[in-house]
Amino acid sequence: MENKCGCWAVLRRSVVGSPAAHNSANATHRASLVYDAAATETRYLNASKRELMLSPAPQSSDDPGPPSAGNAMSHQLLQFRFHELKTATGNFRPDSILGEGGFGYVFKGWIEENGTGPAKPGSGITVAVKSLKPDGLQGHREWVAEVDFLGQLHHPNLVKLIGYCIEDDHRLLVYEFMTRGSLENHLFRRAIPLPWSNRIKIALGAAKGLAFLHGGSEPVIYRDFKTSNILLDLEYNAKLSDFGLAKAGPQGDKTHVSTRVVGTYGYAAPEYVMTGHLTAKSDVYSFGVVLLEILTGRRSMDKKRPTGEQNLVVWARQYLADKRRLFHLVDPRLELNYSVKGVRKVCQIAYSCLGRDPKCRPSMDEVVKVLTLIQDLSDFAILSYKARVAHQTRCKKRPDGIQRLSFNQSMSNRASPLTSMKQCSK
Ligand SMILES: Nc1ncnc2c1ncn2[C@@H]1O[C@H](COP(=O)(O)OP(=O)(O)OP(=O)(O)O)[C@@H](O)[C@H]1O
Ligand SMILES: [Mg+2]
Repeated sequence: MENKCGCWAVLRRSVVGSPAAHNSANATHRASLVYDAAATETRYLNASKRELMLSPAPQSSDDPGPPSAGNAMSHQLLQFRFHELKTATGNFRPDSILGEGGFGYVFKGWIEENGTGPAKPGSGITVAVKSLKPDGLQGHREWVAEVDFLGQLHHPNLVKLIGYCIEDDHRLLVYEFMTRGSLENHLFRRAIPLPWSNRIKIALGAAKGLAFLHGGSEPVIYRDFKTSNILLDLEYNAKLSDFGLAKAGPQGDKTHVSTRVVGTYGYAAPEYVMTGHLTAKSDVYSFGVVLLEILTGRRSMDKKRPTGEQNLVVWARQYLADKRRLFHLVDPRLELNYSVKGVRKVCQIAYSCLGRDPKCRPSMDEVVKVLTLIQDLSDFAILSYKARVAHQTRCKKRPDGIQRLSFNQSMSNRASPLTSMKQCSK
């Protein structure tokens, strides 16, 4: 195979192995990767979905660095042949497309239970196959980082990478299929609003994923925490996907790593954008942004909103800082089906995660602790006279076009908070 860049050279040596390796076991143990210093190709971001934010830090080094061996367990990644994945996805049929990201389409497919061969639709194991666009250098670095990090990091809140395919110009990744797709879909593209309890469950799952990454002896910084990278299984368990931008955290007595600034506009921590200095607290900031999206049902950046409301963090700060106005932040589609104390706590977490001084932001472990407590709260606003009156006042003041239900309708339509109360009090 042609040596196109340093990354591939490394992959050929340590991940893919020789054709013989493929034939012998059809799977390879991943050796720890050592990144080739010559692998310095520019990272291209999908301009439509991600924006490259140029850092003023001139001496940035952006090799993804070695993965977190401290958290790693040995794991066998399957190596697929291109024709196997082609058949598994019905020739990459358009109607099997699950979504499209910056690096290509994601297809639904089926593979054999004990191997890499394709299976009939509906049988074997359901997988998601991400196919990188064949357009030169774009995505190479992310592809390598994805295989490197996800091949070694295993946790219930990280999506499972089953295997990969590297053949001629084809670069594909095979993941466990996440039945409910991305949090972005559920929050912003669906007519039915995500219930409060699911929102908290998802926030908690995603927080646990980040806490795991940050908590190892060699922490990993995720760097691309956003709703489209949080995938959901049937029970709304959240799993982080897309480790293309992940980076090994600072080692020893170093306080940060210096990098080019990459990520998604609207989620990146201000100090990282300004200096290129990356710490785990940059992820904590992004978590704060996602938590606000979960609470408000608003996107982190939304050009369709009036000026002053387009940047969610800027808009939300005024409410976060005022205890009496916190409830203005709640997604109006939830009506009164949320926990009153839960909203207060979520606002507290979001406020501290979004702190301007990274040192004052909480650790993800601390966030997990608080979210765990919120999960059990059942003081739904709809059960409180005070909350109902406040809600009606807000509705009168804020004609936002959302069809409002009368209190009685709302009581009968809601996802039974009384049932949740019973469950919680058991
Ligand atoms: N393992 C999976 N199971 C089910 N659906 C998936 C899976 N992985 C991705 N998807 C779907 O495919 C979509 C595209 O995913 P992808 O990670 O390529 O891009 P993205 O996260 O939307 O954008 P970006 O390129 O900025 O990360 C997701 O939003 C999701 O709906
Ligand atoms: Mg993604």
